[in-house]
Amino acid sequence: MNYNKKSVLDIDVKGKRVLCRCDFNVPTKEGKITSDKRIVAALPTIEHLINNGARVILCSHMGKPKGEWKPELSLKIVAERLSELLGKEVIMAADVAGEDAKAKAAALNDGDVMLLENTRFIKGETKNDPELSKDLASMADIFVNDAFGTAHRAHSSTAGVADYLPAYCGLLVEKEVSIMGKALADPARPFVAILGGAKVSDKLNVINNLLEKVDTLIIGGGMAYTFQAAKGCNVGKSLLDTEKIDYCKEMMAKAEAKGVKLLLPVDVVVSESFPSPIDAPIEVKTVAVDSIPEDMEGMDIGEKTRELFAEAAKTAKTVVWNGPMGVFENPILAKGTIAVAQALADSDAVTIVGGGDSAAACEQLGFASEITHISTGGGASLEFLEGLELPGIACLQDK
Ligand code: 3PG
Repeated sequence: MNYNKKSVLDIDVKGKRVLCRCDFNVPTKEGKITSDKRIVAALPTIEHLINNGARVILCSHMGKPKGEWKPELSLKIVAERLSELLGKEVIMAADVAGEDAKAKAAALNDGDVMLLENTRFIKGETKNDPELSKDLASMADIFVNDAFGTAHRAHSSTAGVADYLPAYCGLLVEKEVSIMGKALADPARPFVAILGGAKVSDKLNVINNLLEKVDTLIIGGGMAYTFQAAKGCNVGKSLLDTEKIDYCKEMMAKAEAKGVKLLLPVDVVVSESFPSPIDAPIEVKTVAVDSIPEDMEGMDIGEKTRELFAEAAKTAKTVVWNGPMGVFENPILAKGTIAVAQALADSDAVTIVGGGDSAAACEQLGFASEITHISTGGGASLEFLEGLELPGIACLQDK
């Protein structure tokens, strides 16, 4: 896929109505935003548009309202936070592409900013309905997609609208694609990828694609037990994707044929049962990976593995990490994930954390500023690592 797209920097936006898709799908609790990271990440594009005299019409989804009008998923809280961050009014539309939005869009002056309501309040959004795409496009002269986190969705506001307007990428999309794209296409070597998370089946294509590119592939987290089983180890009650054992064998053979070093845990932290609630105190012990007792399950990587993985990250020139090493929500089982985050923070390599849980872990643990790039995409960054075409980027004009 061609990621060399024209951006907002390549066009004149003065006096133009610019429909800008952002990913304002921020986490909330009791009606309050708990992390404004995605709003902050969208600021460079929004500020560029304002400073260059555009009439800015922002849009985004939040949550999964499935075509229903759900007041708790209104973007009003985003407009308020954005207004604080920009230090200027953000006009809130009462609908998505209805009368109120259209009237407010028509009345914008140069440098004004408005935000449409949650695009998923309209059924057509997730179906990429051309009627909604046309309605959205009718309010603007130009489409800018800056929603990297939603770029893997072919929806009206992420891709469909590009059929009706000249379409460019925003600065966040440009940054995500250039850093992650370079890491995959032309990495400084040694190139080490660290994958974790619960299931092998969630990352089948990522493993396959990364084996084409990396020098070392590290596998930890729940998904490692299926690899251990494929090597003939008994994994006790640990997570096991029995249907994927053959796949793991295939991947191990591929790694060997390609000369890729495949690192798996050598020791694991085990317990008799999963903590409930997830952060409850729990009794654990560390055992060698081939000695997991029948009645116990692995929940984190052990100390020797932490050292092994950290050493590989330390000597790398490029490191990509996606997925926790254990049940990191529990402090007793978070040591593996912390060790990987610490190893990336200490490394001189270009370090990239691909969204989701691993990004959250870096932020919660206070390592975010030491990492070269933490993606704002969860599913999107995973599909990027799989080498898949992202519809929200494919629809934009090539350079
Ligand atoms: C995300 O949070 O990963 C994006 O905003 C996409 O959301 P979705 O998975 O609901 O499409």
